[in-house]
Amino acid sequence: MPNTILKKEQLIPGQTSKLVIDAPHIAAKARPGNFVILRMDEHGERIPLTIADTDPDAGTITIVYLVLGKSTALLESLGQGDEILDVCGPLGRATDIHKIGTVICVGGGTGIAAMHHIAKGHHRAGNHVVAVIGARSKDLLLFYDELKSFCPEVLVSTDDGSFGHKGLVTDLVAARLEEDKSVAEVVAVGPVPMMEAVARTTKPFGVKTTVSLNSIMVDGIGMCGACRVTVGGETKFACVDGPEFDGQLVDFTELRQRLCAFKPQEAISYKEYHERHGR
Ligand SMILES: Cc1cc2nc3c(=O)[nH]c(=O)nc-3n(C[C@H](O)[C@H](O)[C@H](O)COP(=O)(O)OP(=O)(O)OC[C@H]3O[C@@H](n4cnc5c(N)ncnc54)[C@H](O)[C@@H]3O)c2cc1C
Ligand code: FES
Repeated sequence: MPNTILKKEQLIPGQTSKLVIDAPHIAAKARPGNFVILRMDEHGERIPLTIADTDPDAGTITIVYLVLGKSTALLESLGQGDEILDVCGPLGRATDIHKIGTVICVGGGTGIAAMHHIAKGHHRAGNHVVAVIGARSKDLLLFYDELKSFCPEVLVSTDDGSFGHKGLVTDLVAARLEEDKSVAEVVAVGPVPMMEAVARTTKPFGVKTTVSLNSIMVDGIGMCGACRVTVGGETKFACVDGPEFDGQLVDFTELRQRLCAFKPQEAISYKEYHERHGR
């Protein structure tokens, strides 16, 4: 049945889960960089989540989400065999992938899952993929084994030093760019401060840097204007013009401010959800 959850795995218990969803039409068309918009019930809000993987033969897509507020908590309350009301996609422009040489794919936190699909696309196009992933500690690292299975290099950083380099992903990106001047592109997916820091790090090297913006979205098809971002001084709609943009041109200060715009309403909604569900 379309939209049925075929498999659920808690990657980080109580925090991050992976769902394999029956969605044959989306699986047939989705490309790395695309996302879906889900709605859990008819009064629910629409939330965008990146397609972390597809299996067109099985007719499935994979999503990975961090439980942050009411809608992701509602999603987390579903299990194998449950149906998601709406799964709309694939949305957004696919990542621009062609054979260019060496590509550094940087992922932070839940963004590692989204980055994984892009890294796979670059690998399939014949590029040498260097995956750089970071998390606060080893137990919060996602998709390490999956990336290891096809990336010739997987570099890891943890804030507490429990695995790999003790420090930030940007240390690893800077070191890799210092030693190899032939890197054609850096792609970064993760928290906004991380993507901003990656763009700052790559700037002196003059290497093309692509970031995937997680702006607030509502309709996801360019009609509502909720996802407005400023790139190179121009207003863009992240849902149809992106979500990937040139990291050197993004107005990150505005993006951070817009992401906080509904914080009070989101906190009330999450509190009410917990009270209603006795949690
Ligand atoms: C293109 C795109 C791809 C994304 N991919 C992923 C992913 O693969 N995995 C993942 O965990 N998260 C992803 N996100 C973020 C995810 O959509 C939000 O975490 C989710 O909407 C939170 O909803 P909530 O009700 O649980 O939390 P809320 O309490 O409503 O919000 C918590 C925070 O989530 C963000 N957020 C809330 N609503 C939206 C919205 N409609 N659009 C965008 N951000 C929102 C805001 O920063 C907000 O402060 C993506 C966002 C975008 C735009
Ligand atoms: S989400 Fe509505 S215009 Fe992009």
